[in-house]
Amino acid sequence: MEEKILAAIEFACGVFAGDCTGHDLAHTLRVYRMARELAEKEGADLGLVSLAALLHDVDDVKVSPETSEGLDRAVGFLRAAGETEERISAIRKIIHQVSFLGEDSVTPDTLEGKCVQDADRLDALGAVGIARAFAYGGAHHRAMYDPSIPPKEHMSREEYRSSRSTTVNHFYEKLLKLEGLMNTDTARRIAGQRTRYMREFLEEFFREWGE
Ligand code: ADP
Ligand code: NI
Repeated sequence: MEEKILAAIEFACGVFAGDCTGHDLAHTLRVYRMARELAEKEGADLGLVSLAALLHDVDDVKVSPETSEGLDRAVGFLRAAGETEERISAIRKIIHQVSFLGEDSVTPDTLEGKCVQDADRLDALGAVGIARAFAYGGAHHRAMYDPSIPPKEHMSREEYRSSRSTTVNHFYEKLLKLEGLMNTDTARRIAGQRTRYMREFLEEFFREWGE
């Protein structure tokens, strides 16, 4: 494996050690693996995709708010690893475009960005996605479910960030929409299977809740 990729894995290990809010190292490694798989199918640049995937959350606003604007940790790592300024700015752009921010989210304008965004979004779906959502909800003191709080399906970046909704509402506010937002055909197909599984989960959840 390329030396820089190994170093980026080690760097991510240090950043995410001990996280239990849905942004643990395993998330980053799954995104890395899935992004590479998509990149191989789509013919995207594997080196750029790998580094962007491994670094995509190290400056996330929830993980490291003070560095999220300039992506200081990612850029610092890349400079120390000897990447060219041209590649650093390409990776920066991918990472900036990846995040989901309510209705203000963007479609990446490069194939590499599309692969990383799809991989990140796929990890919010399926069995792992369900587990991550409830882990995040618990860590942020959110109720699992409250039938008196309806989901708000259309939110701007600010509303999305400051929303105090329940975890079940998060399925309607974000997770069930992701299938329709996938960039690549492979990701769309996987998202379809994972979304079906989540809908079944919700049906069973409501049955057991007693509505
Ligand atoms: P990433 O940056 O990895 O795309 P986010 O930072 O948006 O993901 O969220 C990390 C995980 O936490 C995801 O699995 C997401 O579904 C979950 N999550 C984010 N916001 C909420 C929320 N309000 N309620 C429940 N889960 C959430
Ligand atoms: Ni992520």
